[in-house]
Amino acid sequence: MKYYESRAYGKVCEDVCGIDLKQRGTMTKPQLDILLSESNFNESHSILDVGCGAGQIALYINQQTCAKVTGIDVDEDVISWAIGECKGNDKINFRVLDVRNISKTNEKFHKILAIDSLYFLSDMKIETFFESLKTTVKDLHGLLNDGGELIVAWSELPFFKPDRKEPECTQFGICLNELGYAYRSIDLTDQEVAFWKAYRDALLLNEKEFISEDNKDLYDASLKEAEFFIEGADNDRLYRNLYFIKK
Ligand SMILES: C[S@@+](CC[C@H](N)C(=O)[O-])C[C@H]1O[C@@H](n2cnc3c(N)ncnc32)[C@H](O)[C@@H]1O
Repeated sequence: MKYYESRAYGKVCEDVCGIDLKQRGTMTKPQLDILLSESNFNESHSILDVGCGAGQIALYINQQTCAKVTGIDVDEDVISWAIGECKGNDKINFRVLDVRNISKTNEKFHKILAIDSLYFLSDMKIETFFESLKTTVKDLHGLLNDGGELIVAWSELPFFKPDRKEPECTQFGICLNELGYAYRSIDLTDQEVAFWKAYRDALLLNEKEFISEDNKDLYDASLKEAEFFIEGADNDRLYRNLYFIKK
């Protein structure tokens, strides 16, 4: 069973994030509400959600703003689930698309969101990751209308071996500096650290539910992930920022 079909996983999202949006990253409801209040969305906007996963964050944004939202993801199964869930809503659409091919799109957007989705651009190969990130960010920036905004939730993962907390020192901050894009950012590090601890606790509390729905693999993988990030946080190697890049 996939994470987005699991009742137990939904319960963990609800407990930890304050809303069950089938989050696969660490975007909580308070963080989403910061994102929405810091950037002026309106119903005439066209929004792209890159790496939208189960599409429930895209749906939440559509419900809060009445804007038109397009979600893309490389995972065919998650996109077909998202399409089924949002059937009948003509202001949401989902497409299977690898963001590395986004430059072939002719559309323009007022806002482009990438919520915990830009870490996977080189199959987690650190040697090629940075160039791939730069190309993708440049391509996404090119799809913005004048005055549009790219909004990226970026956790500087222990994988990147971060040693500086400042937003300009993360892989994403360095990428923006090299591309010459001005930005502002909001530090969400305390929330990130709290997230992983709460996530671990919620998993432990709901272990029986995962087992009763025959979903022990999801439980084990999620717990392992939580422990990895908690260790990173304990070693001061986990930072999170929300970046806003205006065109
Ligand atoms: C950690 S999940 C985050 C999903 C969602 N944004 C959220 O916050 O719940 C990362 C998502 O990015 C998608 N993804 C990974 N590489 C991608 C790529 N090259 N193009 C498009 N989507 C990608 C994955 O399939 C996955 O759904």
